[in-house]
Amino acid sequence: MNIESDFETLLKICIIGDSSVGKTNVLFKFIDGQFSALHVATIGFDYKSKIITLPSTKQKIKLQIWDTAGQEKYMSMNKSLFQRVQGIILMYDITNRETFERLHIWLNLIKQMTNEIPIILVGNKLDLEDNEDHGRIVEYSEGEDFAKENEIDFYEVSAVSGENIDIIFTSIAEKVIKNLKSERLLSVENIQIDDKKDNIKPRKKCGC
Ligand code: GTP
Ligand code: MG
Repeated sequence: MNIESDFETLLKICIIGDSSVGKTNVLFKFIDGQFSALHVATIGFDYKSKIITLPSTKQKIKLQIWDTAGQEKYMSMNKSLFQRVQGIILMYDITNRETFERLHIWLNLIKQMTNEIPIILVGNKLDLEDNEDHGRIVEYSEGEDFAKENEIDFYEVSAVSGENIDIIFTSIAEKVIKNLKSERLLSVENIQIDDKKDNIKPRKKCGC
């Protein structure tokens, strides 16, 4: 089996974080460049798909991206989704400290519900950083420190300007592919070890 072509496939990821951090708008910006100033709270979850080319290998990957509801009442639905995705974008709003302070709750949930899948941290609403009335509250260095402590990658983005939007999706896709490859290599190694148990032929010594 060609492992490389086997990975040219559908990847499932989701975007999570508190209500209003901009999950739906980041997704829409990525899919078709749209932004809406209205907050229409997501109910349950929904997905959109897009084919991307991985920068590292030029593989074509279909990303199925699940947009979740940040409101507390949908938490149990979110938990069930975590087990069906291969990667997670965890988002907060750089103009709202509460959304940053609740990141550890989201991370704990992910740890409870998944088996160490790739995660990236995203601070959204970068376009507002110098806004006089409603500007940046969470410093870049705070996001960076949180990401380092939890050994995850970190980006700040804007669903208004589109800054760094594409890169977060290619980055999580790269991480998921890498994770799947190492899982497969591990399982291939296990099969080989099992084979050896059943077929115990002494290996010929190499004459070199
Ligand atoms: P839930 O569905 O309730 O979980 O919220 P959400 O995280 O999907 O937030 P949504 O995308 O609906 O955005 C919430 C509000 O923030 C809306 O009024 C958006 O217009 C606004 N918003 C989202 N992203 C940005 C951004 O990058 N910059 C600015 N200035 N506003 C944004
Ligand atoms: Mg939403």
